[in-house]
Amino acid sequence: MRLPGQGPNRETGGVFADVTPAPPDPILGLGELFKADPRADKLDLTVGVYCDETGRTPVMEVVRAAQAQLIAAETSKTYQPIAGSATFAAVVKELVAPGDAATQARLEVAQAPGGTGALTVAGRLLWSTYPDATVWISDPTWPNHRGIFADCGLEVRTYPYYDADTATVRFDALLEALAAVGPHDAVVLHGCCHNPTGQDLTAAQWAQVGAVLAERGALAIVDTAYIGLGDGLEEDATGLRAMVASGADVAACLSFSKNLGLYGERAGALVVAGHSPEQAELVQSRVKACIRTIYSNPPITAGVIVATILASPELRAGWHAELAEIRDRINGLRAGLAAELAGRNLDRCRGTATGKGMFALTGLTRDEVLRLRDEAAIYLVENGRMNLAALTEATIPRFVDALEKLS
Ligand code: LMR
Repeated sequence: MRLPGQGPNRETGGVFADVTPAPPDPILGLGELFKADPRADKLDLTVGVYCDETGRTPVMEVVRAAQAQLIAAETSKTYQPIAGSATFAAVVKELVAPGDAATQARLEVAQAPGGTGALTVAGRLLWSTYPDATVWISDPTWPNHRGIFADCGLEVRTYPYYDADTATVRFDALLEALAAVGPHDAVVLHGCCHNPTGQDLTAAQWAQVGAVLAERGALAIVDTAYIGLGDGLEEDATGLRAMVASGADVAACLSFSKNLGLYGERAGALVVAGHSPEQAELVQSRVKACIRTIYSNPPITAGVIVATILASPELRAGWHAELAEIRDRINGLRAGLAAELAGRNLDRCRGTATGKGMFALTGLTRDEVLRLRDEAAIYLVENGRMNLAALTEATIPRFVDALEKLS
């Protein structure tokens, strides 16, 4: 790493002369390395993308149908409103608080470019109101959380979350840590399918955390990228709905990347839950001001696809069916991997059987992850996280063989 003033073009001066190289992204940065690997049997278990049995990441049939409708009906590519369309907002409210008009009245929705876009707007909103606020993230968490909130100028601290020995949530330690959360701080919670551990809070624990945050006057940022991939769309929304009902201020950051397979379309939403419709509306005016200076207004295609599918009873039913297939396959892979490990008495990937969603922590050290890459062409994130949703019935034994060889 070069020090400031030692860049290759120092003699020419200028801003770029002092630029030092950024480290590769811990997740997306591995894609390039994987692509360049010439080994035919290489296996990519890094980024959280669902693959079917043939290794493809399919476009859902309901997405194809919504796209066809969009192309047939589209008359203009003019800008969307800053927060996206009213239809998009209505379907997202219905997802967050189905059939509950009173709750929906105190929700405001802004379409965002993916979950990352929504988190960025939430961070900017907090910074622009309370620049001295601290954002609390779980230990461990999705690495991008720290970067997103630090780049907003906010201090980032961690709260304990996971016991690697027992592969369970350290709930008492978490509660204890929340005692240090100040008024106007934010606590980032994973709505479901915790990334990277797969271990979630119970409904009772969600209610307890909500009560503490409400009492402390802190903001709950609920990163909700995986509803529908754990137990079901309704079941997986339990935590989010409990938080909205808790009386805490809530900024929910939704992603449709995984549950609609819209990864590259950047389909997400920021949902603000205020204490009253008036308060939510006021906060939304700030949300829109933040959006305007970050990306101005959201992408048309992503918003129309989501709104079309969720607003149509027929397409919504089709979505539920396709999503159930994906969820069942992931859960089958979980069970298959857990059985293979148990069959060989291998004490790895401890939370596999009990976890939810795409991810499990293998418990491998960084050195072991690198060995797995070198010796078996199997790629994991360096913190030992694996994407179960990229395994197949055929690759499970190969993966476990490779784990066995590490010991
Ligand atoms: C992941 O954690 O792999 C996904 O959420 C993709 C990403 O953007 O990191």
